[in-house]
Amino acid sequence: MAAPVARDDELELHVDSLAYGGNGVARLNGFVVFVRRGLPGDTVRARVTKVKRNHAEALAVEVLVPGHARVEAPCQHYPACGGCRFQDLAYEEQLAAKEAQVADSLRRLGQIAEPPLEPIVPAESIFHYRNKLEYSFTTTPSGPALGFHQAGRWDEVLEVDRCWLTTDLGNAIRAAVRDWAREERLTAYDQAAHTGFLRHLVVREGRNTGQALVVLVTAPGTLPEREHFVEVLRRFPEVRSIQWAVNDTPAEVTNLPSQILWGEDAIEEELLGLRFRVRPNAFLQTNTAMAERLYALAIDYAGLTGSETVYDLYCGIGTIGLCMASRALTVWGVEVSEESVACALENAELNGIANAAFYAGEAASSVEELRGRAGDPNVVVVDPPRAGLSGKALRRIARMEPARIVYVSCNPTTLAANAKTLIADWGYRLERARPLDMFPHTPHVETVALFTRI
Ligand SMILES: C[S@@+](CC[C@H](N)C(=O)[O-])C[C@H]1O[C@@H](n2cnc3c(N)ncnc32)[C@H](O)[C@@H]1O
Repeated sequence: MAAPVARDDELELHVDSLAYGGNGVARLNGFVVFVRRGLPGDTVRARVTKVKRNHAEALAVEVLVPGHARVEAPCQHYPACGGCRFQDLAYEEQLAAKEAQVADSLRRLGQIAEPPLEPIVPAESIFHYRNKLEYSFTTTPSGPALGFHQAGRWDEVLEVDRCWLTTDLGNAIRAAVRDWAREERLTAYDQAAHTGFLRHLVVREGRNTGQALVVLVTAPGTLPEREHFVEVLRRFPEVRSIQWAVNDTPAEVTNLPSQILWGEDAIEEELLGLRFRVRPNAFLQTNTAMAERLYALAIDYAGLTGSETVYDLYCGIGTIGLCMASRALTVWGVEVSEESVACALENAELNGIANAAFYAGEAASSVEELRGRAGDPNVVVVDPPRAGLSGKALRRIARMEPARIVYVSCNPTTLAANAKTLIADWGYRLERARPLDMFPHTPHVETVALFTRI
């Protein structure tokens, strides 16, 4: 049957719910239309942007009747700025939608009829929660400015005056760097023409320690007036590390080697009473308060008694494993980023933890060698990127037959697909699962799941 809509059609649609990824779901005589910027309960006029056999995509161009859960978005840059998607959706509705997405993924993709889902953990703060922001430089009539890529635009950066996801300190540091760039008459990099000098500014904050790290990313060239740059940032007593990185490729990346302009090579963050060193490119959960809630949940699910061998796969800077170490016999971490592993080793030492070891390597390929060294694991904690566990990683973990797998997931669809295999092929049962909202106003949802061997 042909799709009942065509590209560029304008339709009046009623949005029923939110799909995973953040688009509204509407139905036209049963045919699903995913509506960008459509919120549950809205009646919208929407323009069709893409048509597929089973569904279409559309953009809401006018809200005809606002849904019951629409609220005023506080940020003046919303929705043009691509950072937030749901500032105008009541927070309770955001939570309900995320919880439903996890349940729906586990039912549909995981084929678990009754997922043992515990209620979603709401965010402690719905604004100012990020401990890391990456800003892009752009050119304005007043000179260089800093902001974020506009929603859906790789070539347009929107200057921001106040970002609601960072702190007053983060906003003040960004404004000070913009003023410095203007005073020094520097130019912003132009992504289309590949001209200009200033590319990105990365600001990381240890939210429980009050320490901040700043990295300026530029195109190749000499950094003029670097003393002035350092002086401007040293006005903030929180700033402990000022670094400079050069990006000589067209790619919009910030995880580059950097040189220290002033201060320490890393800052510290505190999580569940332990100190963690954070270098510019090392992974750290970007919501500190919720990372503590996430780790507390993972510790609870691991059910440690002090006699267990724990593998912490995809361990980043060692946070989960080190928070579990006092309750386990030994902890063994594996992580692909060497910089993160260096931090994990330092972090074990910093906290006087002697029963944890960390190795650099790809998780699937390293697990068998690790088994030779560490012995069979009783508990395996996995915290993979959005793609979830590869078939090989899942097979190699399941073959070791750990009694418990604690799965920390940032993508319910890949969690569900992995759950299906663990249950159908490897004799595991999904015992408990709990979503957490680490990122209010965005479509992301984290889930901690416990699989036990039957
Ligand atoms: C979601 S983060 C979790 C980090 C850590 N557990 C935490 O809570 O901070 C995923 C980590 O997996 C690492 N990673 C990605 N692919 C990997 C792979 N194939 N093998 C090992 N580590 C990988 C990334 O570098 C990143 O540090």
